Amino acid sequence: MPQTLVFQIYLCVVGSFACLLTYRLGALTANHFSIDILFFVGLLWANNRRSVETESGAFSLNYPLMLPVMAFHGPWLAALVAAIGIIDIEELQRPLGIILHNRGSIALSALVSGIVFHTVSARYSFTLAVALSALSYLLVNNLFFISAKLVQSLISGTRDGFLNDVLENFKTFIPSAALAAVFYYTYVYFSVYGLIVSYLIFLALRSQTLFGLIDTTYRLAFIKSILRAVWAKDPELMEHLERVAFLSRELARQYGYSPFRQRALDEACYFHDIGKLEIQDDILKWPGRLTHGQYETIRSHPERGARFIQDVPMPLTNRKIIENIVLYHHERWDGTGYPAGLKGEEIPLEARIVAVADTWDAMTSHRCYKDALSIPEAIDELKRVRGSQLDPAVVDVFLGILDTVLEKEKRQASDVPRGTPRAPATLG
Ligand SMILES: [Fe+2]
Repeated sequence: MPQTLVFQIYLCVVGSFACLLTYRLGALTANHFSIDILFFVGLLWANNRRSVETESGAFSLNYPLMLPVMAFHGPWLAALVAAIGIIDIEELQRPLGIILHNRGSIALSALVSGIVFHTVSARYSFTLAVALSALSYLLVNNLFFISAKLVQSLISGTRDGFLNDVLENFKTFIPSAALAAVFYYTYVYFSVYGLIVSYLIFLALRSQTLFGLIDTTYRLAFIKSILRAVWAKDPELMEHLERVAFLSRELARQYGYSPFRQRALDEACYFHDIGKLEIQDDILKWPGRLTHGQYETIRSHPERGARFIQDVPMPLTNRKIIENIVLYHHERWDGTGYPAGLKGEEIPLEARIVAVADTWDAMTSHRCYKDALSIPEAIDELKRVRGSQLDPAVVDVFLGILDTVLEKEKRQASDVPRGTPRAPATLG
């Protein structure tokens, strides 16, 4: 039986079980239906899984928006609101197993969290009730996530860095609980309309530098400036960065990164060769055989790149991902790469992804010292270095999506009229 089918069956079974358990347990709790429930579903839809970036990671706005429902309308209705409201169009296009699993895990998390809130608030303080309820929401949700990732690893024999996502979630439960309390009191004193206004005010404030946040808009503006500088110095390098960023983004989407990490990775991919800015053109574009010294200079670009980005202000998750990519994209699966000589899964997943995209682009592009390979030749070459230079599993995923990706790349390229100078990449 194919691996993906086994995994989909697992997701369907677990998801259905969670939905059923929520339904049975929910019937035992007190629930109060009101028209407000529809507002909350609308609010969660509009929120569309927005998260808040903090210095210690990102937290979703779902729990804070759900607390008033749990507290005033009961855990079962909260579970229903969560299952219907916390979804986006993209998820609806995914396999049934994923949809069922996500619905079940979200509904059960909301139900358990609601029960915890009511139980604790009846005996102890409101503060403790919100904190424990936020914690139990994360706990249940992450248990489903961890189990699915473990089963996926067992089936496919690969492993990715999902534990970082889990740890990041737990580090942010206090700000998440604090915001939930704010939304709770807004709802108590100003009804659902007040809650909507406070949510909109919060979104407006979020785009400014608040709570130690590093504002995404400013960061993107900074990235664009850097890319313009790259473009001015070396348009060829700029085009390489753009193509590798595009391929890496498409490849990373196959790995189920959380939306926050995927966004961080989308930005980071533009920087993998940024260290080459420090290297003189006469070495970078030397058409003949390089001397040992010249070769060593080129090999220093990952470390130069890491130094280059170390003072750029950004959240910790973005920093980790960008460092992993800049520093380790020339590591090899067999441990003979540089600069650290990491081997196999010691190399961070994002660096293995960028390494495949980078190798593909290097093979299929014309350089001053070599001609471009044709697509079939490049595929053969990629298969040859699969398992020595590159992670075999990432190569397989890449070959699986290659046709779609090339088609998409061609479509995007044809959007640019011939003879129009390519502008530096636009982000976000
Ligand atoms: Fe490189």
